[in-house]
Amino acid sequence: MELEEYGRLSTDDLVARLDRLKCEKDAVVLGHNYQVEAVQLVSDHLGDSLRLAQLATSTEANVIVLCGVDFMAESAKILNPEKTVLLPHEAATCPMAAMVTAPALEAFKAEHPRAAVVCYVNTTAEVKAVSDVCCTSSNAVDIVRALDTDEIIFVPDRNLAAYVATKTDKTIIPWEGHCYVHDNFVAEDIALAKGEHPGVPVVVHPECPPEVIAEADHVASTGGMVGLAAEHEELIVGTEIGLIQRMNREFPERRFYPLSSFAVCRTMKLTDLPRLVWALDNGVHEIVIPEPVRARAEGSLTRMLELSK
Ligand code: 13P
Ligand code: SF4
Repeated sequence: MELEEYGRLSTDDLVARLDRLKCEKDAVVLGHNYQVEAVQLVSDHLGDSLRLAQLATSTEANVIVLCGVDFMAESAKILNPEKTVLLPHEAATCPMAAMVTAPALEAFKAEHPRAAVVCYVNTTAEVKAVSDVCCTSSNAVDIVRALDTDEIIFVPDRNLAAYVATKTDKTIIPWEGHCYVHDNFVAEDIALAKGEHPGVPVVVHPECPPEVIAEADHVASTGGMVGLAAEHEELIVGTEIGLIQRMNREFPERRFYPLSSFAVCRTMKLTDLPRLVWALDNGVHEIVIPEPVRARAEGSLTRMLELSK
C-alpha cells in the first residue's frame, strides 16, 4: 500500500494496523519527546536522547522504529547491529549534527593533541567514531567531569559546551555549532514570560544561549523537564513545544507555558501516524552504517552509557 493510502485511513484503523504489525514483525516504537502528539500516543516508550539510547540497548524486539531524527536512529543501530532500525522519514535529520564532519574534527584534534573529544549525541556515526566519548543533554556535565583529561574538545553545540564549562574546572574547546530552535531564545523571552506568569519557575534546555541559561531557574534535558513537571504546579518551559503536549497529558491538573510558541523543530514533525505505520509495514527507511564506522562509534556510545549508570 502506498503512503497516500495510509493517509486516508482513520486513526483507529491506523492504530489497529500498527498493533498488528508490531506483533507480526516483533517491533517496538521508540518516540522522542518532540514528536507530534499522535506519534507520542502510540509510542511504546517516550524519552530524551539518553533514555532512547538506553531503551535501544534493553529492548528484546527485533525491529526498532525510531520516531525522532536520524542521529537517534543511528545510535539505536550502532548499539544493536543485529536489529533492524527504521527511521520513518528519511529527511528527519538534525541540522546541528550536520555542523561537524569527521574530517573537520580530525583536523581540529590535530590542533589540540592533548584534548579528549566529547561529542554530543546529536552527531553523525562518523563523528562518534572519531570521538572519545559521547554525551547527551542530561549527562554532559557528568561525562566531562569523569574524564581524566583537563582539555576537552566539545562538539558540535557551542551553547551546551558553554554550559558545561560553567559546571566543571576543565578547559572546554567548543565547536561553533548550534540548534536553530534553541539558539533562537533570548533573555527577553524569560523576562516576558515571568512578567506574564509571576512566580512561576523557568526551565530551559542546555542548547539555549548562555544569556538565556543565566536567567533560568533550572537547566534540564527534555526528560529532566518531565521530572520537573511532576514537581511543580506551574512551569515555564524553554524547549521545543512538542514536550508541552506530553506534560499536559501526563499532568493535566498542572499548568505549563511555552517560553516561545515558535520553538518548533521542523524535522521532528515530519513523522506522522500514517507514515509510521507505512514505514513499519514496508521496512523503511532502514538505517545502514558501515561496520568499521559502527564499531568505532559504539565505543563512544557504550563509554557514555557506562559512565551514566
Ligand atoms: P534531549 O536529549 O534533551 O531530548 O534533547 C534532544 C534534542 O535534540 C534537543 O534539541
Ligand atoms: Fe536538532 Fe535542534 Fe531539532 Fe534537537 S531541536 S533535533 S538539536 S534541530
